[in-house]
Amino acid sequence: MLRMHSLETIVSWAKRKWFVYPWSDIYGWLANAWDYGPYGIQLKKNIQDLRWKTFVQQKPDMVGLDAQILMHPKVWETSGHVDNFDDPLIDDKNTGERFRADKIIEDQIELMRKWNNEALSDDDIIKTLQEKYWVTNLIPESWSFEKMHDFIVKEIPNNPNSKKSKPADRTEVRKFQMMFYTYQGVVHDDADAKIWMRPETAQGIFVNFRNILDTTRMRVPFGIAQIGKAFRNEITPGNFLYRTREFEQMEIEYFVSNKKDEAMKAFEDRKVASKDRWENKLKLSADKIRFREHESDELSHYSDGTFDVEFEYPRGWGELQGIAYRTDFDLKNHQEASGKNMQYNDPFTGERYIPHVIEPSFGLSRTTLAVMLDAYDEEEYTNGKGEKETRVVARFPFAIAPVKVAIFPLIKKDENHVRISHEIYAQLSGSLMVEYDDGGAIGKRYRRQDEIGTPYCITVDNASTESGTVTVRNRDTMEQETIKIDELLEFFAKIS
Ligand code: GAP
Repeated sequence: MLRMHSLETIVSWAKRKWFVYPWSDIYGWLANAWDYGPYGIQLKKNIQDLRWKTFVQQKPDMVGLDAQILMHPKVWETSGHVDNFDDPLIDDKNTGERFRADKIIEDQIELMRKWNNEALSDDDIIKTLQEKYWVTNLIPESWSFEKMHDFIVKEIPNNPNSKKSKPADRTEVRKFQMMFYTYQGVVHDDADAKIWMRPETAQGIFVNFRNILDTTRMRVPFGIAQIGKAFRNEITPGNFLYRTREFEQMEIEYFVSNKKDEAMKAFEDRKVASKDRWENKLKLSADKIRFREHESDELSHYSDGTFDVEFEYPRGWGELQGIAYRTDFDLKNHQEASGKNMQYNDPFTGERYIPHVIEPSFGLSRTTLAVMLDAYDEEEYTNGKGEKETRVVARFPFAIAPVKVAIFPLIKKDENHVRISHEIYAQLSGSLMVEYDDGGAIGKRYRRQDEIGTPYCITVDNASTESGTVTVRNRDTMEQETIKIDELLEFFAKIS
């Protein structure tokens, strides 16, 4: 039975096992920024490839796109991001320190749990807060600024950083622009040279809508998918890969009829399909996935309805994916601002209209974190000598495991074991990520592969020379079976 381990355990394992490294470590780590190591990049790439296969390759109504990170500045004015893309900030006038309002509330709720020895359920806490502050969930980023301010003034009277527990003198909760910018060209003091770094990949899709319509045979309903980097000047990045300033998104803009009932049906269909994909493709535990509908004061400026798919992280439930009904907000605004026609001409009915949009949007970095949290396990088992031992095993599904098969020559100095192992490596590496490992006792090599989640290990021994067979050991059951070398390709083809 898998249980959730602490974030500290996962961070330490991820660093030790080459998944994630602290950013620019040799010059001193900038807190909460991370680089992906050899296994981390492979895991992330496998998740990305699986998503692309599911959403683009296997869907006749979908196409892909790769737009630039630095887009025309007008895009962000038109999309509303220049005016509306912000985080809630609150200052302490006594010390000049600045805090992200929802974050300090989150920490305070965590403290409330601890003070009560975890005896209060989330429902109990919600009930108390509802009576005092009219809030209906424990996700402060969804609360209005007034509710956040009210809570902070009453529940967190002192500055959270202050050692002297001096009462804080709070400002109102204010907006903080989250987009990064840079300059293009050689003149940096020219306002025209200022250019925003995209905070979402979605706008690259909207500005290419007309191109796709004019140059492909796509007809509404259809979707465009994009995977790429996004940048947000988060005031308080943290919780490992959960909230970082540079991250990757996978977004789909799905263009549907402008009739509200048809659009809502597409919205509902996406919701159902989405739950199925998290559980059956990425194989996240069903009890760690839930839906939460945004309240009206939480909705993004472009949305007429949003559901979050939430995952249960060690600190509690948090967003993994958003599914938003963006109406015709973006295309209509881009039509007005650019003067370019964004209407769709229905070839069957002759109607002309601006399509509405359903947007499933998820973070690749956050998904990688959820997958790691869900896969990591510490299992007690009885070894060959009847003794109890504990092993760390990352139970990644085969499709996304960074290494699919490890190949061990039983004796590192035996020419035949080594030669056959290399032959198997050459045979399998054309279609699978495989690893050659000849270091240490076989038991140690198994443990090493369990820790990085390799589903199968092949051992080459004397039987391989004599009868052309190898031992294949299963990561989860730890059972071994004998398989002919000639049949290995077919064996793994069936699994993948
Ligand atoms: N186009 C809509 C949009 O960007 P969002 O809810 O702001 O919606 C979508 O972001 C997804 O991007 C989130 O569900 C989350 O997985 C991921 N995400 C957002 N901000 C992030 C951050 N600072 N670090 C890591 N992932 C983030």
